[in-house]
Amino acid sequence: MTISVFGSDMSYLEKEYVSKCLDSQWIGFGEKVNEFENELCRVRNFSNFTMLDSGSNSLFLALHLLNLPKNSEVILPAFTWMACANAVVLAGLRPVFADVELDTMNISVDTIKQVITKNTSCIMVVHFAGLPVDMDPIIKLGYPVVEDSAHAIYSDYKSLPCGSIGDLGIFSFDAVKNLAVGEGGGIVCKNVVSKTIAQELRYCGIRKSGFQAASSSGTSDTEKMWWEYELTEPFMKMLPTNVAASIGLAQLERRNELQKKRKEIWQVYQESFNNLDFLHTPKDELNYEYTHSFFTYAIRIPNRDELAKYLLKNDIYSTLRYHPLNHYKHFNKSSGDYLQNTEILNKTALSLPLHPRLTDIEVSKIIDCILKFYQ
Ligand SMILES: Cc1ncc(COP(=O)(O)O)c(C=O)c1O
Repeated sequence: MTISVFGSDMSYLEKEYVSKCLDSQWIGFGEKVNEFENELCRVRNFSNFTMLDSGSNSLFLALHLLNLPKNSEVILPAFTWMACANAVVLAGLRPVFADVELDTMNISVDTIKQVITKNTSCIMVVHFAGLPVDMDPIIKLGYPVVEDSAHAIYSDYKSLPCGSIGDLGIFSFDAVKNLAVGEGGGIVCKNVVSKTIAQELRYCGIRKSGFQAASSSGTSDTEKMWWEYELTEPFMKMLPTNVAASIGLAQLERRNELQKKRKEIWQVYQESFNNLDFLHTPKDELNYEYTHSFFTYAIRIPNRDELAKYLLKNDIYSTLRYHPLNHYKHFNKSSGDYLQNTEILNKTALSLPLHPRLTDIEVSKIIDCILKFYQ
């Protein structure tokens, strides 16, 4: 069987919580979502958290909540996932790419400064692999900041939880993330008004149904009938489900065990590869205090394509995260002159398997295969 590059770990606890949810016969949006939101706020020290159905939709909602001028420019890394630039375009804004640092794969502040124009309205950062971006110099630039923390649910920057530092922070709980629920995501809002609006928008923009109006007044004596609704504004449906939230509650309860496994694998890779002169390992010594989420382990190597094919022949799947966004005609296709590191990573970066179900034997096999290839 091929060793997969990403994966989740579902135990008896996830099964038990899902089973209870199914027994409750209320599998859509409901009480379990509230419970998950509260528990995540408690564990991660967020002032608020609104669960949604995906990280991609959370990005769109974050940009929508900022109410940026139409066609204004959002600066984001070229080396990130498609959903980041898609959200910018779908929100009626223009993506402008900054480069990333080679050794952290995080957005470079110097290239952000190079692409700022009078039309810049926002900066989107991505904590690649869960290694926190140096946020202070970016916040100092004075623009609203969206913090894509899809990889960084357990990361802290200078003791602050990632996702709570910028104006809005988003998370992904898709099937392979550190906290996996199948499909899911969510948003942390610095501003409590935005949080209230986010909660209204996620259900087609509905503010209050007649039923809620009646129950919140504590009486059925209301002018509204329960089938009437107030609308904040027309919006999409981005509701998460009780089933996903039940899985999330189990994953959250198991976070120490799951994170310990990820960290151990990361450290074995680092120890095995750190002294090889042909291979660059991810940097993990930074000049600020942080904690890592260890979402993905990306090396830089010569002959990357050949190595990837060799690994696959040996039943080991690896991949490139991410294909540069400036290569797509749909976005602001850039010449790449100032995106040098993104271009280098496109030719040399490779994400190796990292997930909580990898066995020690599999990790040894991956390391041995890589060393053999370069011998
Ligand atoms: C950096 C980043 N942002 C956003 C997303 C989108 O999250 P989702 O898959 O939950 O829509 C992902 C998903 O992999 C991601 O890696």
